[in-house]
Amino acid sequence: MNTVRIGIIGIGNMGSAHAQSIFQGKVSSLLLTAVCDIDESRLEWAKQTFGEEVSLYSDYHLLINSGLVDAILIATPHSLHPIIALDGFSANLHVLTEKPAGIDILHVRKMNEAAEASDKIFAIMYNQRTNPLFARLKKMVEEGELGEMKRFIWIVSNWYRTQTYYDSATWRASWKGEGGGVLLNQCPHNLDIWQWITGMPVKIRSFCKYGHYHKITVEDDVTILAEYANEATAVFITSTGEYPGTNRLEYSGTKGKAVIEEGILKVYKLDTDEREICFNSNEGFPSIDVHYEEFAQQEPESGHVGILQNFTNAILHGEALLSPGTQGIYGLTISNAAYMSDWLDRWIDLPMDEYLFNQMLNEKQSQEESKIIKNTESSEKLEGEYSERWQVRW
Ligand SMILES: NC(=O)c1ccc[n+]([C@@H]2O[C@H](COP(=O)([O-])OP(=O)(O)OC[C@H]3O[C@@H](n4cnc5c(N)ncnc54)[C@H](O)[C@@H]3O)[C@@H](O)[C@H]2O)c1
Repeated sequence: MNTVRIGIIGIGNMGSAHAQSIFQGKVSSLLLTAVCDIDESRLEWAKQTFGEEVSLYSDYHLLINSGLVDAILIATPHSLHPIIALDGFSANLHVLTEKPAGIDILHVRKMNEAAEASDKIFAIMYNQRTNPLFARLKKMVEEGELGEMKRFIWIVSNWYRTQTYYDSATWRASWKGEGGGVLLNQCPHNLDIWQWITGMPVKIRSFCKYGHYHKITVEDDVTILAEYANEATAVFITSTGEYPGTNRLEYSGTKGKAVIEEGILKVYKLDTDEREICFNSNEGFPSIDVHYEEFAQQEPESGHVGILQNFTNAILHGEALLSPGTQGIYGLTISNAAYMSDWLDRWIDLPMDEYLFNQMLNEKQSQEESKIIKNTESSEKLEGEYSERWQVRW
């Protein structure tokens, strides 16, 4: 096999951008052969855009069993990701799912088990992992350049959205449709990068504000506290109601700290571990040498195309995945635990009670009135182009 034939399920904002980019040959050895959507107008768009070369389906089961695809890319609303992925693995296909992996870790765990039982490639579209600054910081942390972690703080409140955005589709910003708000829609990338750099915490406490800045039932402002096995701590703050927001990440370790802000990684390193200085120095207020270096982002992140290329190369040449699909469960665990912590008003130890979470989410969903959409004409419809707002923004 020297080409991967892919079918895209869900060709709304995101799926249509992937479809265009693959159709235009931006991903080498990846061929768009089929697309599926339940919305007739999206299929009409695909027909006008791709002509006879791409087969159209309104039922994804037919696409999966068409014999026309080796792989599927899932770009539907989140709750369908694990369900469609399971069907994909059953049909012996490679699977690339959009983020988040799903809305609850119970279903995502089943998807991961199916992926591990298959010999197929499974990846998740964590395109922000291709950002060179995050990758550099992760490497520094892994190589111990900053010592043992003490604290991680990320304020990412530059996810501003208006009411028009929230009114643009019935599934958005509801427990029933989306399974949450800013944590499930905007923040999966941040929650993933957080755990990608620091590893997973062992407990979570959070404070969520629901419909604080918008007429929505789900959260649009969140503060999460976390603790690690070594008692290091983390704080994560996000909002869709602040303008201008902030995007500032700080990692503090025993041998220095790193800050990423305004597209620059600033590194402050010590020669000696602070823990040694603390107990070996004769001075109460020592002046400690700090070596400063900064790194601007030289090249753009390869983004969605980078992940698509990596997925294709993994299938064809065994290249290591930058964002293995099974890792989607980690960021989602943080957001599931954050909801449960706020609902129960207490710390949540990880691993958490997945069944209790599902029961509580189901209650939220059944109590929620159907969403009334005042403006379904989305000004966000992009008809097949990647948006700059999907890249890391400082
Ligand atoms: N990686 C990124 O940067 C990024 C950016 C935006 C969105 N996303 C993700 O992509 C997914 C889709 O988001 P969107 O903004 O494109 O939403 P959207 O509403 O614009 O598109 C979703 C499409 O899925 C279709 N659909 C729904 N049920 C279906 C089914 N059973 N079979 C086939 N098609 C079905 C809908 O008709 C719609 O066209 C979400 O999970 C979102 O989180 C990722």
